Amino acid sequence: MTTAICPGSFDPVTLGHIDIITRASKLFDRVIVAVLVNMEKKPWFTIEERIDLLRKATEGIGNVEIAGFDGLLVEFARQKGASAIVKGLRAVSDFEYEFQMALTNRKLAPDVETLFLTTSSENMYLSSSTVKQVGLWGGDIAPFVPDCVRDEILMRIRQRSHKI
Ligand code: PNS
Repeated sequence: MTTAICPGSFDPVTLGHIDIITRASKLFDRVIVAVLVNMEKKPWFTIEERIDLLRKATEGIGNVEIAGFDGLLVEFARQKGASAIVKGLRAVSDFEYEFQMALTNRKLAPDVETLFLTTSSENMYLSSSTVKQVGLWGGDIAPFVPDCVRDEILMRIRQRSHKI
């Protein structure tokens, strides 16, 4: 059985992530979406909330599991017996950062391959942070995220505006 990990911070999951997860699920017997800590980012959602949203958003995909992990991605991959890490690559701007992570992970765990799937053209520009920004300034985020995520983001924005 082939197992792949789709890692990310998923703060929150977007339709771009869902596209990559769906395509990975066709290439591997089992796909584990891993919600990990990115120390460069200040998240809006807790790991548990992000896992919950991912579970709802991937309900229809049979061979996908969601998990959280507080540690090294390669450690998690090893624990799960995964042979690959699958990531989406949007534009050239993603490349250096992703390349650095892939090479570091390969040094740490040469037996785990990183595979990049090119993002679908309609998701080229899409990121969790742009979606949050559009939502914060009152724009329509429906085209970018699953419905359950849209409702959560809008609720979060309402809570934030009460505090200002
Ligand atoms: O969606 P993101 O924020 O680009 O995902 C980055 C993430 C969470 C996959 C990365 O920060 C990560 O792997 N974090 C876990 C800790 C780790 O293994 N770091 C070393 C990778 S160089």
